[in-house]
Amino acid sequence: MKHLLSIHDLTDTDLEAVLATAEEMHDVQSRPVKKLPALRGRTVVNLFFEDSTRTRSSFELAAKWLSADAINVSAKGSSVSKGESMKDTLLTLDAMGVDAIVMRHAGSGAVAQAANWVRASMINAGDGTHEHPTQALLDAHAMLRHFRNHDLGTLEGKRVVIVGDLLHSRVVRSNVALLPRLGASVALVAPRTLLPAGVDTWGVEVTTELDDVLPEADVAMMLRVQRERMQGGFFPSEREYIAGYGLTGTRLASMRPTAVIAHPGPMNRGLEISSDAADSARAIVLDQVSAGVAVRMSVLYHLLAGNE
Ligand code: NCD
Repeated sequence: MKHLLSIHDLTDTDLEAVLATAEEMHDVQSRPVKKLPALRGRTVVNLFFEDSTRTRSSFELAAKWLSADAINVSAKGSSVSKGESMKDTLLTLDAMGVDAIVMRHAGSGAVAQAANWVRASMINAGDGTHEHPTQALLDAHAMLRHFRNHDLGTLEGKRVVIVGDLLHSRVVRSNVALLPRLGASVALVAPRTLLPAGVDTWGVEVTTELDDVLPEADVAMMLRVQRERMQGGFFPSEREYIAGYGLTGTRLASMRPTAVIAHPGPMNRGLEISSDAADSARAIVLDQVSAGVAVRMSVLYHLLAGNE
């Protein structure tokens, strides 16, 4: 495995290996001394053309805990704001001899394009509305750990309901590619205006009625309403959105006793998710964050450790 651009890049063997190594890495995270020598001497660059809190910091921690050197380059504060092209920025970093470039960009396909230009391994940390493969891997890892710790089995036969701004979400696309491979059945829920074109060909159930599917869910994954990607009105008002698609206290009460709530973050509290839901004992939102470091350690390890 040279790059991780999409969930589709992972064979079943890769997928199994990445998830298994993530479990081992998770244990490192809970140690007082969080350091493995696996990537000593390697260099990882985080190249972010879009904002990020958890993805960027967890990739940085993941690299550091594996003893790699890690630096952050963000568009704000770099020569990108002087008008340098994406290609020149990539070639510049590549010329320094870095081993991996973790890249986030507003253009769908930008990271795959970058992989054609550089010698380094490229990792997609979110490209436009296309994919965010490590997010789906960490979602799966967090769910698997939760189910295992609560004697609820694996993802086999589980029902995952993904709700909200599907149109602008790269997270949903990666999860739709991943979760069914792990045995889960997926239902997508959104108002008609936030359903991506062609969603009916994705091979999963699609509905506009949250209350039809929520009571059967094992996991409700709430997606952020991505206002920064919206021009014009995709729904009449926030009140209307909450009424149809918000995870309110009432909806929370309609869920199975063992069901959990996931959200990739950042959350719009009071819009797609109420504080009651976000702060409830069923929320695995912070477990997803912890899972993020373990999964990214695993991905960096699999991409970089074996390519001497
Ligand atoms: C997501 C993203 O950037 O795609 N966030 C994340 O990586 N945790 C989802 C979002 O921005 O809503």
